[in-house]
Amino acid sequence: MRSLLVVLALSAGCAAVRTAEAPAAPIRDASLGLAKGSAFEVLTPPAVAEEDSSPGEKGVRPRPFAGAAPVVPHGIQGFLPITPKENSCIACHGEAKVKKAGEPTPIPPTHYTDYTRRPPVAGEKLSGARWVCTSCHVQQTDARPIMGNRFGG
Ligand code: HEC
Ligand code: HEC
Repeated sequence: MRSLLVVLALSAGCAAVRTAEAPAAPIRDASLGLAKGSAFEVLTPPAVAEEDSSPGEKGVRPRPFAGAAPVVPHGIQGFLPITPKENSCIACHGEAKVKKAGEPTPIPPTHYTDYTRRPPVAGEKLSGARWVCTSCHVQQTDARPIMGNRFGG
């Protein structure tokens, strides 16, 4: 009986603490997002320098995991824009040959395969879904990551 009273007294005490809890401190608008500033300001992103080395000058970058689209290790300013009629990337990467360091990595067979069909159809023409190379192969800049990332493949 005594222990029951103790339990009752304790739980009553907890309830009292819960109701007396201070309201959560308001979140300041400058702490809402990753941008270092008020949510009401339109902040200018910091200037970044784009990679401008010539193809082959710096080699290739490590791939984060098997099957990842390799990042573009060289400058591409001179090869853009990619339009429905023009794609300078193919001039170098379109040649099918055995890869040698310093030479353009050949576009892989997956890019000539139409995966919208069942079963997928391999062809000689680059699949339309792979035309705009830069939507998957990312150009490099010296931008600092907004937050840390320990992702590994
Ligand atoms: C003048 C020839 C040339 C042009 C044009 C060119 N590249 Fe390259 N690219 C290269 C060479 C050379 C390498 C480096 C290969 C090496 O060092 O082993 C390379 C590397 C790459 C890689 C890394 C491949 C890997 O194995 O990791 C990607 C991705 C790439 N280029 C994408 C592009 C894209 C996208 C474009 C068009 C915007 C483009 N390249 C235009 C010659 C070229
Ligand atoms: C929809 C996304 C996508 C597009 C668009 C795309 N790629 Fe890729 N690319 C990938 C992925 C994913 C890989 C790695 C897996 C693979 O080989 O299919 C890859 C691999 C590559 C490789 C490395 C091949 C190797 O042997 O390791 C080269 C070079 C390449 N792509 C060039 C290009 C070029 C040039 C274009 C434009 C004509 C292009 N890609 C368009 C996703 C894409």
